[in-house]
Amino acid sequence: MAHRAAIVGAGHTRFGVLDDGPRALLRSAVDGAFASVDKGAERSQVGESFLASLGFGGWQIGNSSAVLSEESGITGAPSSRVENACASGGYALRSGVFAVEQGGSPLVLVAGLEKMTDVTNARRRYWLGVSGDTEWERAAGLTFAGVYGLIAAEYLHRYPGARDALAEVAVKNHENGTRNPNAHFQKRVSREEVLRAPRVADPLGLYDCCPVSDGAAALLLAPADQAHQYTDTPVFVDGLGAGSDRLAVQERPELTRFSASRRAGDEALRDAGIDRSRLNFLEVHDCFTIAELLALEDLGFADPGGAVDLTLSGATRPTGRLPVNPDGGLKSKGHPIGATGVSQVYEIFLQLRAAAGTRQVPGAEAALAHNVGGAGATAAVSVFSRG
Ligand code: COA
Repeated sequence: MAHRAAIVGAGHTRFGVLDDGPRALLRSAVDGAFASVDKGAERSQVGESFLASLGFGGWQIGNSSAVLSEESGITGAPSSRVENACASGGYALRSGVFAVEQGGSPLVLVAGLEKMTDVTNARRRYWLGVSGDTEWERAAGLTFAGVYGLIAAEYLHRYPGARDALAEVAVKNHENGTRNPNAHFQKRVSREEVLRAPRVADPLGLYDCCPVSDGAAALLLAPADQAHQYTDTPVFVDGLGAGSDRLAVQERPELTRFSASRRAGDEALRDAGIDRSRLNFLEVHDCFTIAELLALEDLGFADPGGAVDLTLSGATRPTGRLPVNPDGGLKSKGHPIGATGVSQVYEIFLQLRAAAGTRQVPGAEAALAHNVGGAGATAAVSVFSRG
């Protein structure tokens, strides 16, 4: 298998409602990434950086990549912001791998950041809404949870038993979050609590939604053939895939399938030359519980409607045959928009180095990350191995 790039270091802040501002969060994630490089790395070795961020809330909206250069101590090298809503992180990783392949940079930095809790609830709804369609969705009053509520209602209509599977996603991911010290929520919820929770956008209740979180994550990439200069246990990026779709869900032929995810998943697996059966776990974009079921189907791990039985069988639990979101997922770990796709890869970096502590997936050798922008308008998928 040909490796496209190697991850040699990774850093992560706590996710949640945090006192730290965006600059401190970035600094902490990048410092963590450098500190994690076993054989050491210098800031001067970074030839290019990418910042994944929506620019949510009250901080630097334009030209924020310069803040990444400043806070990471690598001014001089080119830096750019990658913005594809909630899929910004997955797309920034893609840009980082392309930069590595282009050559000329010993190291490439990919960071993701969002500071979401420093604005009022009304402003949060505005910032979440701008990643959906403005003319037909946001201006008409549809919230982000509302869009996924429509998708969930259609899914429940088609596939009886799906309500229990949505609850199982919430219960599982909250349980997984209790083993992740960086998670926004570190508390269990029962099936009954999920089903009885206040409605946010029918049929989705409070525990079907990801929270609004602050946080940052960072990765250091190196050419695959130079990885061992930095560490004896690099994690390799073997496959990349991406896709897009019409922005408004009403423009699509189907509500319950994301063609952008399907395209991105097929492309990433083909690029890596790996069969689905060889993946030991998945990090998928569960911004709402329904999104985890759609991901399993769009990525080809279940037929349409089949994610219900797959999930209810326990297969996606940490002890099952295909663990999904061992870090708690967006549901429990939190979803600081730009940081999410980078954070998924941070988890894969730990797991494939057998360094994930109490949430370690035994014998993990290959994994996939799936990151969605908006309600499926953009998607990025990547495949990793321990080499
Ligand atoms: N899951 C579980 N608990 C949650 C939660 C969530 N998603 N969101 C908030 N809570 C908890 C809080 O911790 C708090 O608990 P406490 O009373 O024990 O302290 C309580 O619920 C109230 O929190 P609050 O922040 O006032 O909730 P809210 O009503 O303002 O927001 C949501 C709840 C679901 C509307 C909000 O989390 C949300 O908008 N989520 C979706 C974000 C989103 O769309 N992201 C992009 C997706 S692609």
